Amino acid sequence: MPEIQEIIEEPKIDKRNQLNDLTAKEWIQETKSFFFQKGLGAKSPEAKYEKMHPAPFSFTDITKLIRFFTKEGGKVLDPFLGVGSTVKACLETNREGFGVELSPKWCEVTRQRLSEESNYEIDDKHLICEDSRNLKKYFNKDFFDFIVTSPPYWNILEKKDHKANERVLNGHVTKYSENDFDLGNIEDYNQFLDELSAIFLNCYDILKPGKYMNIIVSDFRHKSEFVAFHADLISKLTNKEVKKHFVLKGIKALMQNAKKLYPYGYPFCYVENIHHQYILILQKVNERS
Ligand SMILES: C[S@@+](CC[C@H](N)C(=O)[O-])C[C@H]1O[C@@H](n2cnc3c(N)ncnc32)[C@H](O)[C@@H]1O
Repeated sequence: MPEIQEIIEEPKIDKRNQLNDLTAKEWIQETKSFFFQKGLGAKSPEAKYEKMHPAPFSFTDITKLIRFFTKEGGKVLDPFLGVGSTVKACLETNREGFGVELSPKWCEVTRQRLSEESNYEIDDKHLICEDSRNLKKYFNKDFFDFIVTSPPYWNILEKKDHKANERVLNGHVTKYSENDFDLGNIEDYNQFLDELSAIFLNCYDILKPGKYMNIIVSDFRHKSEFVAFHADLISKLTNKEVKKHFVLKGIKALMQNAKKLYPYGYPFCYVENIHHQYILILQKVNERS
């Protein structure tokens, strides 16, 4: 194997590189198992639409993933689009972004956001206001180069904690919708996991063989118990007994070092300030017969 220094100095994109448009130095840098979240800052004009949504991700973080997992012109899907951060990241990087989002309200915010911030009028082929359970109706088999998303984390937005109180004080909503098809409104955790995994396993068909899906999730607390949501989801999606299953290729920690600390549990017991998310990196390795 050549020394890392020799590889890093190669200025050109390797001809064998079918995955992205990165040089060796850029590629190797992105293989670290963590990175620090790069928010926009509350005062940024681009934070206006993001702030309306209870759980957006920053398009700058998604841009990094899109640059690594696709080439220019690649087709990217977010099956839980929210306020359109993934499509915005695609516009910034010359990729073709598609999104599915259940709530008409968030679809409308996405339209306004992309028009105002990126001068892009999204059409109904790229923004589908629908239940993701039906996504196979809209896309052909082996269509996407990359799927990236952050789904609802069960019904944790139902929690009446100080974060929810702060949102209410600032005039923002605390949940996605009241719709019965909203995965964030499912009461039972196991049912939620089954329904969410079924959607991701449908994504398997519309992803090209060899390509990747990234899912951004956080663990959480339910009453006094810690729920390792990322681990539960991995076991569902990589279960070898299911014909169409993904292969887990890595887990990246997205460090949220700027988050406010709360004195949970003090001075009685250990209660974590959960200040990171996980990016589950899954690959559709091959069609299985
Ligand atoms: C964590 S948020 C995604 C936020 C997004 N990453 C952003 O930056 O705006 C999850 C989204 O999934 C949507 N959702 C919930 N159930 C859904 C379903 N069955 N089909 C499609 N979207 C759904 C919610 O309305 C919510 O906007």
